[in-house]
Amino acid sequence: GAADLGPYRHYMQKEIFEQPRAIADTLEGVEGITPELFGDGAYSTFKAIDNVLILACGTSYYSGCVAKYWIEAIAKVPCQVEIASEYRYRESVPNPSTLIVTITQSGETADTLAALRHAQSLGMTHTLTICNVSTSAMVRECKHAYVTRAGAEIGVASTKAFTTQLAGLFLLTLALAQTKGRLSDAEEAAHIKAMRHLPAALQAVLALEPQVMAWAQEFASKENALFLGRGTHYPIALEGALKLKEITYIHAEAYAAGELKHGPLALVTSAMPVVTVAPNDQLLEKLKSNMQEVRARGGVLYVLADGDTKIESSEGINVIRMPEHYGVLSPILHVVPLQLLSYHTACARGTDVDKPRNLAKSVTVE
Ligand code: AGP
Repeated sequence: GAADLGPYRHYMQKEIFEQPRAIADTLEGVEGITPELFGDGAYSTFKAIDNVLILACGTSYYSGCVAKYWIEAIAKVPCQVEIASEYRYRESVPNPSTLIVTITQSGETADTLAALRHAQSLGMTHTLTICNVSTSAMVRECKHAYVTRAGAEIGVASTKAFTTQLAGLFLLTLALAQTKGRLSDAEEAAHIKAMRHLPAALQAVLALEPQVMAWAQEFASKENALFLGRGTHYPIALEGALKLKEITYIHAEAYAAGELKHGPLALVTSAMPVVTVAPNDQLLEKLKSNMQEVRARGGVLYVLADGDTKIESSEGINVIRMPEHYGVLSPILHVVPLQLLSYHTACARGTDVDKPRNLAKSVTVE
């Protein structure tokens, strides 16, 4: 009830602000990388597999999409991600050397459980879940698990479950990399250090709330929005668009920025806000030319830039600077302003933030 909301208006806002704690708890006790973080026997499982298939729904699917970039780039293990409800009903080619990874906050999502059982029925026995509920059916049915410690997530819109899933998936990436001989001690130490700093880094991002609220005032009157990102931030753009649809009922779409000219650019007018997730990585120069394409059509840009970029606010370009550049873990930070943008836009529109229409927290039936 209202008692445990503390200073917050809604569970969603409380859960967004709990993220530094949720990540700290999820990483607690992780002194170094070892496959046994995923349970007994994980080393022999990781030795035995030569590719990964991630199965999930909704926001959990998007965390899997981020993990695909990490797993291929860092562990050099081929990785596919599939929507659970598609996988369970299509004819696919089973591979006994596949590591099946399910991602689910609740551990009870019907489609994700059915996808796991489908994979098992096809002879795939190497199964692992990243799940937030230790007593769930998913944890019981998978051979290996990493239980995230987001704590109970009450808002229908997933926030802290997503960022803690990413933390768990990053550990999985490093454990796979280590088992495959692709993680030096120095790299391991650097990654652990960066992970340990995440709670403080998240706190600094949360302090951007007033700037995001100013954006939300402008979004409240819009009926459409476009989200752009590249690389690991393309799934972050997808997640930003899902959050906006879910709780504000504003139509939102996300595109990999390079796809803009292959169709969605036709939609861009001054009535179309374009949110751009723009970390200062090797794709920034390409992203800047995508932004020019938007500006040339009168589109108004809302840019989440890193502190060390030279992107400045100007006519039609609104910039919020992230406190620091965060390398491979940057998606965990860049999603937070997008969560806040949806939250405050929903508040401005007066929608039922924690219980959006037509949606259930866990989809336990088909
Ligand atoms: C996210 O905001 C959603 N409400 C939804 O997409 C959710 O992530 C999806 O239903 C999967 O749930 P799960 O993680 O409990 O399996």
